[in-house]
Amino acid sequence: MPDEIVQWLRPENGGVIFDGTFGAGGHSIAIARRMAVGGAVLAVDRDPAAVQIGTDMLAGDPELRDLPIDLYCGSYHHLDRVLAAAGRPAVDGVVLDLGLSSDQLADRQRGFSFTGDGYLDLRFDPSAGQTAAEFLAVAGEQEIADTIYRFGEERFSRRIAKQVVLRRKQRQPVREVADLVEICRRCVPRSKNHDIHPATRTFQALRIAVNQELTILTQALERLPGWINPGGRIAVISFHSLEDRIVKQAFRDDDRLEVLTRKPLRPGEAEIHGNARSRSAKLRVAEVRATETTASR
Ligand SMILES: C[S@@+](CC[C@H](N)C(=O)[O-])C[C@H]1O[C@@H](n2cnc3c(N)ncnc32)[C@H](O)[C@@H]1O
Repeated sequence: MPDEIVQWLRPENGGVIFDGTFGAGGHSIAIARRMAVGGAVLAVDRDPAAVQIGTDMLAGDPELRDLPIDLYCGSYHHLDRVLAAAGRPAVDGVVLDLGLSSDQLADRQRGFSFTGDGYLDLRFDPSAGQTAAEFLAVAGEQEIADTIYRFGEERFSRRIAKQVVLRRKQRQPVREVADLVEICRRCVPRSKNHDIHPATRTFQALRIAVNQELTILTQALERLPGWINPGGRIAVISFHSLEDRIVKQAFRDDDRLEVLTRKPLRPGEAEIHGNARSRSAKLRVAEVRATETTASR
């Protein structure tokens, strides 16, 4: 939803906009192209591969080379580190476009796509934390079931967890994408319209768990308003109900913020037509109240 993001964040007014989820750079580039002289985009991505591709793209493309985008590797809940590195005290707008990028989904070796055939990794940052395969190798049956239920809202989580643990006992632990897809196919009945793959919810749950996505989002929403100048805005695009609930409640319960979108905004038909994954996107925007000081930083 790059057009909507540009409209809400108003880069033509100048200042500094933080893109906390650079991905393939669509939002950063759209914002930077409309940025007033002297303004800048600070961008991060947690995935070192995305940052490398983005850095090469920004330096190598003559149309992008002069755009005011500074790209760093890191997590969006550490905006303070980015501000320190960039020598800036605060920003005037923030965009978070949650979830995974098309590049990550297309990379069959990282485990994000259940049509892939590689190792079940699922980490955004391959240098940190436990992989999904490692989690499934050591966690108890109850913990696996709870994780898949809580983060995937998968009704058949217990069956899946049981099969995962059974394979461990048979000395054939779940290591590859195909191992887990096969278990999900056996445990999850086909959805009525055949529109949801039996592994969708389980992969979502494990990705959220190994990347601690909801904890990071919650922490970020507590911290970010303290680093945004009064009148600045924060726009968050979420892709499933767990994320959207966190954003909605955080915006509503934060006295520093005024909610600008009473209901979440959805992408238009044209965008959904061009990118089927955008059909579940929800955009919420809030503004830091003008009376708010930055004392909470
Ligand atoms: C949906 S994509 C962003 C797409 C981007 N807006 C574009 O226009 O190309 C989400 C990106 O967020 C990154 N990401 C996920 N969690 C993150 C975090 N905590 N901090 C920074 N980046 C994160 C992922 O690695 C992925 O590249």
